[in-house]
Order: sequence, then C-alpha cells, then structure tokens
Amino acid sequence: MTVPLTVQFAKTGFDALTEAEGRIALIVAPEGKLGAVAKRLDRATRGAVRRALDSKAWDKLKTGDALDLSYPAGLKAEAVQLVKLPRRTGIAEARKAGASIGKALGEAGAMVLAASHPRAAEIAFGLTLRAYDFTLYHTRETPAKGAVAMLVDDPEGMEAKAAPLMALAEGVCFTRDLVNEPANVLTTTDFADRLAVMRGIGLEVEVLDESALEKLGLRALLAVGQGSESPSKVVVMQWNGGKKGDAPFALVGKGVVFDTGGISIKPAAGMEEMTMDMGGAGVVSGVMRTLALRKAKANVVGLVGLVENMPDGRAQRPGDVVKSMKGDTIEVINTDAEGRLVLADVLWYAQERFKPTGMINLATLTGAIIVGLGHENAGVFSNDDTLCNAFLKAAAAEGEGAWRMPMGPAYDALLKSRIADMKNSCGRPAGSITAAQFLRRFVKDEVPWCHLDIAGVALPPKETTLAPKGATGWGVMALDRLVRDMLEG
Ligand code: BES
Ligand code: MN
Ligand code: ZN
Repeated sequence: MTVPLTVQFAKTGFDALTEAEGRIALIVAPEGKLGAVAKRLDRATRGAVRRALDSKAWDKLKTGDALDLSYPAGLKAEAVQLVKLPRRTGIAEARKAGASIGKALGEAGAMVLAASHPRAAEIAFGLTLRAYDFTLYHTRETPAKGAVAMLVDDPEGMEAKAAPLMALAEGVCFTRDLVNEPANVLTTTDFADRLAVMRGIGLEVEVLDESALEKLGLRALLAVGQGSESPSKVVVMQWNGGKKGDAPFALVGKGVVFDTGGISIKPAAGMEEMTMDMGGAGVVSGVMRTLALRKAKANVVGLVGLVENMPDGRAQRPGDVVKSMKGDTIEVINTDAEGRLVLADVLWYAQERFKPTGMINLATLTGAIIVGLGHENAGVFSNDDTLCNAFLKAAAAEGEGAWRMPMGPAYDALLKSRIADMKNSCGRPAGSITAAQFLRRFVKDEVPWCHLDIAGVALPPKETTLAPKGATGWGVMALDRLVRDMLEG
C-alpha cells in the first residue's frame, strides 16, 4: 500500500477517548455545540474544550481549520484538536477538515470523534491524503504515522461508504510516489515493472519494448529515447469492468522519466525538477489503480509512453526529421519539445488499436502553461465541448483547478515546416496552445479529446490543502469522477 495509513472506523465511545495516548480530534460545528461524548470530554478536561470554543481564536477559524489544546489536564492524550466543520457541508470543506487532522498527525496516531457527521468518509479521505509524505530517502527521521481510529455511529455503514474513497486515495498516493521518485530509481524499466505489478489487482498490463514499438512505427517516440541508456517503452493497462466488447475510453500519459532537454539542453538551474516530467503517465497509472481497486463498471484503457530525454552521441539532433506512426513527418526544431513527439505516437496507437469512445491525455508539456495559469489550474484543450465541459465539471467538483484554453487554425498554421509536414516547436508566443495544436494533428476528428497540460499543478512549489510540498497527484480525483459520471452513470 502506498497510502500512509488506513483509517479504522469504530463505534463512538467515551472510554476510547479518555484512554487515547495520541491526538484526539473533535469535529465541531462553528457555533460550538457539543454532542454527548464531546460533552463528557469537556467535563474530563474541566471545561477546557468549552473555553476554547468560546474563544476569539475559534471565532476567527475558517471552515476546515483547527485549534489545538496541548496536553489537556484530565486526559492521557497529547492534544485535543478542535476542527471547525458544520454538519451540512460540501466535500471540499470536509476533506479540508480531514487534512487539518492529517497534517498534525504524529507517531502516536489519533482518535477522531466524528460521531454522526454525514461527511465522515470525506473527512477520512482528506486525512489520509494530507498525512502522505515522501520519506523513502530520509534515513534518519522517518517515524511512521500512528494508527487512526475514527469514532462514528455506524462503523460498518461508514466502512462501505469510505471504500471507494480509500481506493481513490490509494490511486492518488500511487501517482504521488511515482512523481516524487528520482530518475535514477524510476527508470523506464522500473516504471514499467511497477505497472506490471498491478496485474495483481486485476488490470491487464502489457509492456511494449523498443523492438515492438519499432515494428509498429512509433518512430517519433523512439527518437526521443534514443540517447538514453534506459529503453523506451509503452505500457498498456486495460480495465474492463464495463460491458463486454464495448469500446473503452482512453487515457494517455507523457512519461518522460527525466527531461534534460536533450541536445537542446536545459539550463542547470531547476533541471532536477524534470524528474516530474512523467507526471502525465503517473496520473494515468494512479487512475487505473483506483478503477481496479474500486472495481469500476467501465471499460478504460490507460497508455503511457515511457522515455528518457538525454543528450548523447546517439541522441536526436535539432533539424532531424522523424516519421510518426500516423505517417506524418516532423522536423525536430528543438529536442526539448519532446513530450509532443511521445504523445503523438501513443495517441495514434491508442486510436488505431482501441477505437476509443473518447480520449484524454495528460502531460507536463510546457513551461508556458505555468506562465499563463501558474500553479492553480491545469490548462485544458479540447476538440469537443461536451467532453470538455464534463471534465471541467468533474474537476470543479473535486476541487482540482482546470481552465479551458483556446485552440484554432491560426495557431495550427504556426506549425508549418519548410522541409517536413510540421515542426515540433515554433517559439514563445502561445507556446502551450501550439503544443496542443501539434497533439490535435494526431487525434482523429471524430474522437472527442481533451489535452491536460499539468506542468504547473503536478509538483507545485508549495503545499496544497490536500498534499504536503511535492507531488499532488492532480487529476486522479477528477478523472475518477469523470469515469463515474460519464461511463458508469
Ligand atoms: N517538460 C517540459 C515542460 C515543463 C517545464 C514541465 C517546466 C514542467 C515544468 C517540456 O518538455 C519542455 O521542455 N517544453 C519546452 C517547449 C519548448 C522547447 C517549445 C518549454 O516549455 O520550454
Ligand atoms: Mn522538454
Ligand atoms: Zn518534457
């Protein structure tokens, strides 16, 4: 399991709270009304809980935020955390409340009194996501998170309600692990191996090696990886939980395990961040994991193009012309515009093989999308309003920022090349849009398609509500919901 902990639901009781040695978290409505068990906790602390709730500090708290009473007299616990959350509330606020608990969680674990809160499952979900931390390579200070028991009225009912959310948390954390891993560990081969392990949860996983890709004609993808010691691969993950024989929906991810820029090499400053250039493939992998774990009633295929972009004697050069699987030729103006070369071939392969009902690709594709949208929103590009609006709605419901960007023939015209059918880079103006236009040339008109440029949201520079600093897993929640709404409905 890649999630940091599993929340156990247990029956509400007073003894558990007075005996708890770790943290106690109490979900309290803004007006500060205490339930029967919380009242007894207040009495045990000789009114400390009540006094905190009557304080200005409590008044000033935003929904989902929390206040700590440290080492309260009368209890064994190291802290009582008062978490502000109304009973009637949306999922975003409930998850934020859970995140406040997850963020404060230590070695000793926690008892969470959520009593009959209708959003207890969402609180557990937010707690789990925010308790995540990537500590694999800290050899000294890495205490494991303690157990969390959430006290509710109906543990079994809650367990059932929380199960699909725990599958989702597992998918999100799987994506985060992949994105956080350094490139000397997460090579193309290691990545493919981790995906092959998911056969154990019922996914059909195929790994196409370089000779298979050569035969299929994915020359644009192979050209990107030809300077690397790590062999290029395409991994195909199928989840067929829907009607037998029905065409699947396709998810396609850019999986550049490290992007030096190639011969058009990047500056040294910040290059270490290019370990996240497989973020699109990471999200596709996390979604497939979630769909399998919650046994989604849908047919979905995930395809990831795994390559490493290195400078080398065998690397492709600026000025090279490569032929894509589709048959179109591409002049490689800039070897650092490699993601579109990878995606062009995987998108085409996905359509030729699976005839998908629709297709969404994800990629840390352009620095320009960060200039435009910062780290708050991913760029959304589409040839189909229905699919695009469905995605935007799912993303909004999950609190994942997404903003539609324009496309059009005038942008497409910028891709014209003197010696080939198109070039892979055409300068700074509208850099994210021309990249999207490039991809669109490899999408059949009749296939509804979205391209999500996640360069700004995959690994933002600060912590977010649900993630510590580092990989967010942005998109796993939105795509899981999209599958639910659009394919399982
Ligand atoms: N992987 C980068 C994009 C990127 C930049 C992701 C910053 C995350 C953070 C991509 O392969 C790239 O290098 N794009 C170039 C395209 C240009 C050469 C047309 C860019 O954005 O500068
Ligand atoms: Mn690049
Ligand atoms: Zn890249």
